[in-house]
Amino acid sequence: NHVKTLIGKKVLVTAGPTIEPLDPVRYFSNYSSGKMGFALAEAAALAGAEVTLISGPVSLPTPPQVRRIDIVQAEEMKEEVLQALPQMDVIIKSAAVADYRPQKIYHQKMKKVQEELTVILEKTPDIATEVGKRKLAHQLLVGFAAETQDVETYALGKLKKKGMDLIVANNVAEPGAGFGIDTNIVTVYDQEGVVKAFPKMSKKELAVELITLIGDRLHGK
Ligand code: C5P
Repeated sequence: NHVKTLIGKKVLVTAGPTIEPLDPVRYFSNYSSGKMGFALAEAAALAGAEVTLISGPVSLPTPPQVRRIDIVQAEEMKEEVLQALPQMDVIIKSAAVADYRPQKIYHQKMKKVQEELTVILEKTPDIATEVGKRKLAHQLLVGFAAETQDVETYALGKLKKKGMDLIVANNVAEPGAGFGIDTNIVTVYDQEGVVKAFPKMSKKELAVELITLIGDRLHGK
């Protein structure tokens, strides 16, 4: 029974991992399943928002009433996000963007000739930071932080550094939180500190809670 808190609002959600190729058959990536982001897109649509979902490679069906854009690399995700950004009211960055990519992509399969192989990685663009810089006064930027220690310190650091309004932090080392699984345990922070700590719940239930919280923020509550 959803309260239509986001009627007339445009919401952008990023989800899933990015894949950074090394050669035609190999890549660098991470364990993100896209479940949290897809659940958020679904909950936002149910709350009445017009939802755009920009997703890395995942094996999940597109939620009803959601416009989906598939990308592979961080660079492509950045382009799609920045193109969509001016129209958006809320930007939820739940994607696990790869932090590094191979500096050089080989166009032929690398052969197994050396005993040791060194691959030079370079930083990918930080999309959230870019959004934080360009954000308009009415736009709400919500980020995620997956940590394995000192969750609050790192989460608040990221919120400030990246210009986010809210950050959803989880300790991925905790049983019941993090990558791949159906449940999560998160605490939401703003500039001032803790907004709300949620107990362990399914990512679908949590998505509804987070969308409600975001709706309240938009309406100045
Ligand atoms: O720094 P870290 O990757 O932990 O930051 C997490 C937040 O920043 C997430 O919201 C994630 O989607 C976003 N991010 C991004 N671009 C990157 C890395 C992270 O937008 N290259």
